[in-house]
Amino acid sequence: MVMIAPSLLAADFARLGEEVKRVAEAGADLLHLDIMDGHYVPNLTFGVPVVKALRPLTKLPFDVHLMVENPDFYVDPLAAAGVEMITVHVEAARHLHRTLQAIKGHGIKAGVALNPATPLCTLEHVLSDLDLILVMSVNPGFGGQEFIPGSVAKISALKKLLQDAGVAPLIAVDGGMNRETAPRVIAAGADIVVAGSAVFGAPDLEKAIAALKGKDQR
Ligand code: DX5
Ligand code: ZN
Repeated sequence: MVMIAPSLLAADFARLGEEVKRVAEAGADLLHLDIMDGHYVPNLTFGVPVVKALRPLTKLPFDVHLMVENPDFYVDPLAAAGVEMITVHVEAARHLHRTLQAIKGHGIKAGVALNPATPLCTLEHVLSDLDLILVMSVNPGFGGQEFIPGSVAKISALKKLLQDAGVAPLIAVDGGMNRETAPRVIAAGADIVVAGSAVFGAPDLEKAIAALKGKDQR
């Protein structure tokens, strides 16, 4: 069964705590937290103090997506804040293997994110170290962008590559997910659908999450 990870980026930032509780009650499986530093991507969001403040509000696993130039700076503080998953961009981690080991050393799931133009082969030598691979289906930095259709073939190729390698990290897809695009990436092998605007922009969060899982009646 596919998991839905609503991205807090699309929530009402003036009411973050309430938004976290609302999405947890609506049936989210994970909470996706986009940390951007204004350098790796041309946008700024929130940092560790906000993650720490939200942590006591829900039991939902915190899935942190680091879009920052120095991911190593944030691994220890995020672990101390009590997050369950940390994903770093392959281009941002200067010593990717070391960063992944640092994350796993805290007993946290380690993920790598691939931008639309980043090839799968960049993961070749860390495949057995990964708990999660986040396929970006938009260029990172902003919510509400249009899904890049070539992402479907990339996910299928990734699924095959993982099977051939005999490893089974989760495949997550992030960007432009909605009731039309989610079934396509799920069919291609996605285990986790990250969705910002399709969840928080919907009038009924529970229905929006069910629709992404393909459970709605239309
Ligand atoms: C974009 C972020 C996404 C973003 C997705 O860089 O990584 O998680 O919130 O937003 P939507 O679902 O609106 O495309
Ligand atoms: Zn994200």
